[in-house]
Amino acid sequence: MSGNTTFTMIKPDAFAAGNTGSILQKILDNGFKIKALKLTHLRKENAEAFYAVHSERPFFNGLVSFMTSGPIVAAILEKENAVEDFRKLIGSTNPADAADGTIRKLFATSIERNAVHGSDSDENAQIEGNFFFTHFDRH
Ligand code: CMP
Repeated sequence: MSGNTTFTMIKPDAFAAGNTGSILQKILDNGFKIKALKLTHLRKENAEAFYAVHSERPFFNGLVSFMTSGPIVAAILEKENAVEDFRKLIGSTNPADAADGTIRKLFATSIERNAVHGSDSDENAQIEGNFFFTHFDRH
C-alpha cells in the first residue's frame, strides 16, 4: 500500500524567480496539505549529503553548486498516494519532457534548474523529510 506523505523542495531557481507562492498555491489546489514548511539555505555538505545517491554522476558537482546558490523552501506534504500524485503534478525531471500544466513545465528552465524536487518512493519521502524536519516540526 502506498503512503500518504511526500517531501518537496522549491529549488533556488524557482525561489529566486519569485515563484514560491505560485508553486505552493498549485500544490494546495491539487489537494496536498502542508505538514511542515521551512525556508533555508543549504550548505555544501548538506547538499552533498542530501544528494549522496547521485555522488558518482557527472552532474553531481553542478547539482551541489546550484542547490547551494540561494535559498530553498522544504516541505512535507500529505495526501492519499502522495509520492505518485506529487510526481505527476511536478512532471518529468527534464522540463522539456514535462506535460503541460505541470510545475516543471510552468517554472523549470533546464534538467538541473528544474524548480522543484519530489521524493521518488515512500522510503525516500521519510528519509528526506527527516533530513530537514524533526518530529516536533510536524505537529
Ligand atoms: P531531483 O528530482 O531533485 O533529483 C536529482 C536532481 O539531479 C534532479 O532533480 C535534477 O535537478 C538533477 N539532474 C538529474 N539528471 C541530471 C542531468 N542529466 N544533468 C543535470 N542535472 C540532473
